[in-house]
Amino acid sequence: MSRFFIDRMALWCYNISIMNTRETLKINAKGHLEIGGADACDLAEKFSTPLYVFDEKHIRDMMAVYRDTIEEEYGGHGCVLYASKAFSCEAMYAIARQERIGVDVVSGGELYTALKAGFPAEKIYMHGNNKLSHEIAEALDAHIGCIVVDAFSEADLIEREAEARGIVQKVLIRINPGVEAHTHAYVQTATPDSKFGFSVASGAAEAIVRHVLTKKHLKLCGFHCHIGSQIFEKASFVLAVEKNLKFMAEMKERLGFETEELNLGGGFGIWYTDEDPKIPVAGYRDYLSALLDAVKKGCGEYRLKEPFILLEPGRSIVGEAGVTLYRVGAIKEIPGIRKYLAVDGGMFDNPRFALYGSKYTAVLANRAAEEPQEVVAIAGKCCESGDLIGTNFNLPKAKVGDIVAILSTGAYNYSMASNYNRNLIPPAILVKDGRADYIVRPQSYEDLVRSDAIPDRLK
Ligand code: LLP
Repeated sequence: MSRFFIDRMALWCYNISIMNTRETLKINAKGHLEIGGADACDLAEKFSTPLYVFDEKHIRDMMAVYRDTIEEEYGGHGCVLYASKAFSCEAMYAIARQERIGVDVVSGGELYTALKAGFPAEKIYMHGNNKLSHEIAEALDAHIGCIVVDAFSEADLIEREAEARGIVQKVLIRINPGVEAHTHAYVQTATPDSKFGFSVASGAAEAIVRHVLTKKHLKLCGFHCHIGSQIFEKASFVLAVEKNLKFMAEMKERLGFETEELNLGGGFGIWYTDEDPKIPVAGYRDYLSALLDAVKKGCGEYRLKEPFILLEPGRSIVGEAGVTLYRVGAIKEIPGIRKYLAVDGGMFDNPRFALYGSKYTAVLANRAAEEPQEVVAIAGKCCESGDLIGTNFNLPKAKVGDIVAILSTGAYNYSMASNYNRNLIPPAILVKDGRADYIVRPQSYEDLVRSDAIPDRLK
């Protein structure tokens, strides 16, 4: 057997094993990919393609593992917030509400969606490095739980708006502890050169604490940090905790400020391809345990009161729960260069390859048990050469009409989708025990022109 063939076999076996160990994905008796108990080919037939499919059980299991770990290992003195930027739609807030966790929102639009879904305002935290004045007003009018301050001017604005309403708003301050996490530069957030947070090292963090403490209508409860996304090294998270605790101890000593809440952000990595570790749902408990242990240890060393701990996972809750289904259209082989399978989606539903060179695993959903025979690029249908889902997929020889499933597309795919080329953003369905329902309905051409306007002089 050639080395090439052995490699491909190994990868194929690996992919099959991924599917067999993930409850989300299985190969059924027909040799079709199954997601959350539903046959992917039936879903493609019924709901058409491109289609975002989400496995409800995986989402709930992930929310529960974080919630229960805080309950069992930290006496419930904390709360998980789903970072809804990963996938925001009303159903996600409804699930988070049922799972008794909080959410973080990063814009007026996410806040509006959460409130519309009936999410309890007191369990909403608001982020953003440049929150607009109307977003602050909306947050205060809704009486949300907490705003995470990320600018001097923002602290002044919240103070004015809170005073005008005769209320005191709970706030955290986003600090930049200076931790360089091993991940893509675009999703690192705690390096010295970052638009986020106040640097501890430069003294900016202490300055904003002093500033906020002068405000009568702000109640400073503590600090927030988020070091980046798609990170696997526990050591980076632990280092961030240590730096936070050191800062908390300094603020206690210098300003007499005692931290009640510490928000450690999100960032836990997920499996996209065989280059990533495959962490089972229960394995995420270890990440959180490592953080909680570091908090307990540091508080002991610095003689600090153990703070209420918040965590903001987004990708790890929803990423592996999602699969995108496409149908293969044009197939083009460029001899000696590569073979392109073009699908009915592309960068308008998944811009992550174009933005970050992100890698994915593909499966032919209607022939999921077949061995791979070739390496292909999967292209979208947009008018630009960089519109690719990826360049190195091992697949059986695909034919026009086959269904391609791209795995682990639940996080930052729908949420970063666009109507580029006036393509329609695909709908999303939620699957549980084989039953599928829309959570985002299909767009129509009418939706595309809904906000267009033609000035009289053009008529
Ligand atoms: N908290 C804050 C303040 C954040 O900025 C983020 C993500 C999270 C929590 C959630 O992090 P997660 O658990 O999802 O890693 N569009 C990029 C990811 C950007 C992440 C932005 N912030 C991507 O597609 O990879």
